[in-house]
Amino acid sequence: MTTLGTPLSPSATRVMLLGSGELGKEVLIALQRLGVETIAVDRYDNAPGQQVAHHARTITMSDPAQLKALIEAERPHLVVPEIEAIATPMLQELEAAGVVRVIPTARAARLTMDREGIRRLVAETLGLPTSPYAFCDSLQELQAAIEGTDNGGQGGSGIGYPCIVKPVMSSSGKGQSKIDGPADVQKAWDYAMSGGRVGPGRVIVEGFIAFDYEITQLTVRALGPDGQVETHFCDPIGHLQVSGDYVESWQPHPMTPAALAESRRIAQAVTDDLGGLGLYGVELFVKGDHVWFSEVSPRPHDTGMVTMITQWQNEFELHARAILGLPVSTELRSPGASAVIYGGVDATGIAFDGVDEALRVPQTELRLFGKPESFTKRRMGVALAFDADVDRAREQARLAASKVRPHQA
Ligand SMILES: Nc1ncnc2c1ncn2[C@@H]1O[C@H](COP(=O)(O)OP(=O)(O)OP(=O)(O)O)[C@@H](O)[C@H]1O
Ligand SMILES: [Mg+2]
Repeated sequence: MTTLGTPLSPSATRVMLLGSGELGKEVLIALQRLGVETIAVDRYDNAPGQQVAHHARTITMSDPAQLKALIEAERPHLVVPEIEAIATPMLQELEAAGVVRVIPTARAARLTMDREGIRRLVAETLGLPTSPYAFCDSLQELQAAIEGTDNGGQGGSGIGYPCIVKPVMSSSGKGQSKIDGPADVQKAWDYAMSGGRVGPGRVIVEGFIAFDYEITQLTVRALGPDGQVETHFCDPIGHLQVSGDYVESWQPHPMTPAALAESRRIAQAVTDDLGGLGLYGVELFVKGDHVWFSEVSPRPHDTGMVTMITQWQNEFELHARAILGLPVSTELRSPGASAVIYGGVDATGIAFDGVDEALRVPQTELRLFGKPESFTKRRMGVALAFDADVDRAREQARLAASKVRPHQA
């Protein structure tokens, strides 16, 4: 049985979000609607989610001492990581000591913050299909892994070309590049070294998968009527990535029955292992009936913003419900699409022209995130459209997004 309290009273159900960007903001709104008392944490003041929560806290979440002090001071019932760059070993410690429950689990947060943890688990422990890969700590190791000369000079099977290099700790395509031939290796290494989240680092090199399309399989672990965890799947979300960052997504993406079944088999195996309650975003590459696991977010996924217009319960509501032990429905309301609105300028406190024109595009909605600072390539908002025809929805979402013109105020 789930009992919820009254916010700002001794009975309150208190939830702390670690990361309060546009995704965290929507989770916070969903929690607010259920009368949950919310604490929005971010590394800077006035983050989108801090603008809608009961309490706002600004700390360096990658600093274990600061994180521990905050959690011990606030004593939330649940801690919900919304970004990767968090001192997750500290979350594991606090969870093990019974101080707090981490969503979905502290182990899931820790394994997925580092490409190595999750890749080794999925490929080596669970035996699920992924791209071929190797981890490297130097340019020499990278060259050897690609060329297949890393086994004592015997030659042999390397990752080969083309391949993709990524810092093990990075997101949104930062530090990531494709290598087409030997001439690109040095450049890719240097770029990875500049783009990682923490210090000089390790990279993963992955064989390039020439997929037909890629999807996000949103997967929800929620309690059923008998108190057992049940797995629910949303319709597959198709998306378009440019330089490792999503620019458009749509739902449902058409798939063959075999590819859909394989996607769900992989998603189920990964989320069963990571455990806990909540929504996961499983990223998969598909070619014909073949499916490869790419990565997984133990939290709402950026491409899943489309569900704000396509599902009765969007991914943020699903996450909020699941973590509170409430029932969920992943039922589709209408096919639809999302298109990202970038800042286009480097400035603080920007203004948006054309919001009226955007919303005059039929069957659309808009989210402006309220980020205090804009960068040329920072996601500042998203346009959403629904239509029985997904391609038509994509056009309408793109059109609405193009009408919004951010500029220096
Ligand atoms: N091995 C690969 N083969 C082909 N394409 C790939 C491969 N790895 C990554 N990509 C492309 O690059 C995109 C970003 O890669 P990935 O998801 O690993 O990076 P990320 O930095 O975690 O991005 P995000 O945080 O936006 O999910 C993928 O969605 C896919 O389009
Ligand atoms: Mg990704």
